[in-house]
Amino acid sequence: MRHTQSDLVHPLFVERWSTRAYTDEPVPDRDLEAMFEAARWAPSSFNAQPWLFVYTASPEEHDRMVRILVPANQAWAASTPRLAILFTRKRFSHNQRENGSAAFDAGSAWMSFALQAHHMGYSAHAMKGFDHEAAFDIGGVNPDDYAVMCMLAVGRPADEDEPEPRSPRKDQRDMAQPLSSSVLQGAESAS
Ligand SMILES: Cc1cc2nc3c(=O)[nH]c(=O)nc-3n(C[C@H](O)[C@H](O)[C@H](O)COP(=O)(O)O)c2cc1C
Repeated sequence: MRHTQSDLVHPLFVERWSTRAYTDEPVPDRDLEAMFEAARWAPSSFNAQPWLFVYTASPEEHDRMVRILVPANQAWAASTPRLAILFTRKRFSHNQRENGSAAFDAGSAWMSFALQAHHMGYSAHAMKGFDHEAAFDIGGVNPDDYAVMCMLAVGRPADEDEPEPRSPRKDQRDMAQPLSSSVLQGAESAS
């Protein structure tokens, strides 16, 4: 059970979590597409929508993605029904200038994806622990044009796993770390 400091917060935000144990229930394309569709509506600088999700559709593609994960992630993510790699386009298409907001925008898209996944009873888990160079090859994209953000695992969470207590939320439960530790009003100094 996760606790929040405001009873006005929608449970989706508080109850979303990153499992490390999935059932073997497949994630149908239709469900995965709903997550990508949620991501598609994320806000982005110049409405450039610089994110690109490359997902697995066959056991061979799945194995290829599993092989580039670091061992610690392979240990739990290999049995995940679906994996994907999230890239961003480095430049705006309208003027070819560098898009300095691409990573920020991809983060918004990932969060929309994760919340939609949770809404449908799935758990989406982001991973940074993998061979980023090899990801370009698997995604079939050019490192001159794209940057690697993260990999995603998606599936139904198995009953044996449960959200890990983690310091901010544990502290919040004790009310030892108030919202003011991450939110400042106006020109207050953080120091
Ligand atoms: C960009 C990013 C990279 C992450 N990389 C990994 C990873 O390589 N392996 C892993 O097990 N979890 C990874 N995580 C998951 C975080 O550890 C997790 O989101 C965090 O502990 C909070 O837990 P929660 O998502 O269940 O609330 C990553 C999360 C993000 C957003």
